[in-house]
Amino acid sequence: MDVLEVLRMKINPDSEGKESFNAGIKWIESLSEEERQVYFAECIKDLESLPKRKKRPYYKFLVSENKTKGYCLIMIFWTPNGETRPHMHGDSRAKIKVLQGTLCQTNFTLMEPKRNLRKFFIGRTYDALDGIIDEYPDTIHSVKNSSKYDWAVSLHLFTPELAEMTIYNFEENWRCDIKGDVDTHTF
Ligand SMILES: [Fe+2]
Repeated sequence: MDVLEVLRMKINPDSEGKESFNAGIKWIESLSEEERQVYFAECIKDLESLPKRKKRPYYKFLVSENKTKGYCLIMIFWTPNGETRPHMHGDSRAKIKVLQGTLCQTNFTLMEPKRNLRKFFIGRTYDALDGIIDEYPDTIHSVKNSSKYDWAVSLHLFTPELAEMTIYNFEENWRCDIKGDVDTHTF
């Protein structure tokens, strides 16, 4: 059975965001290493067989969302070396738990937002044994699968639910604001 389907069954749809996130992590952690590999491998196999035009550096799946409670829970499958562009997500705070593989989070600072964009950053790598990665509302950051060979999987809690995004491209010196249906956009 699909890992997302099972995960949805483990989460009480009326629960608060943090409860859902914790319930998801608890279920994944209750699996043996082998069971977990099997669940993830099923999804990875499907993603690997997508046609070239549908290939992405990572794939986001909505696990659950409750606009009244103000949260959304997303599972992300990261291709080897898959990486987001530097981004911010409005007022939403994110918590990330690595479920398999390793992810590297990098934070950026804009030095001169109206002229040349400059940055400095600190990269930190997390794996499934590490705690929760925090993404704060005002932080520009990117996330990358640190492995050249293996997929990574992570669970993301956004509170409130994702409603806006800003994506940056430092090389070309532009930014793009997205409001509304953020979920359909790659970040
Ligand atoms: Fe983010």
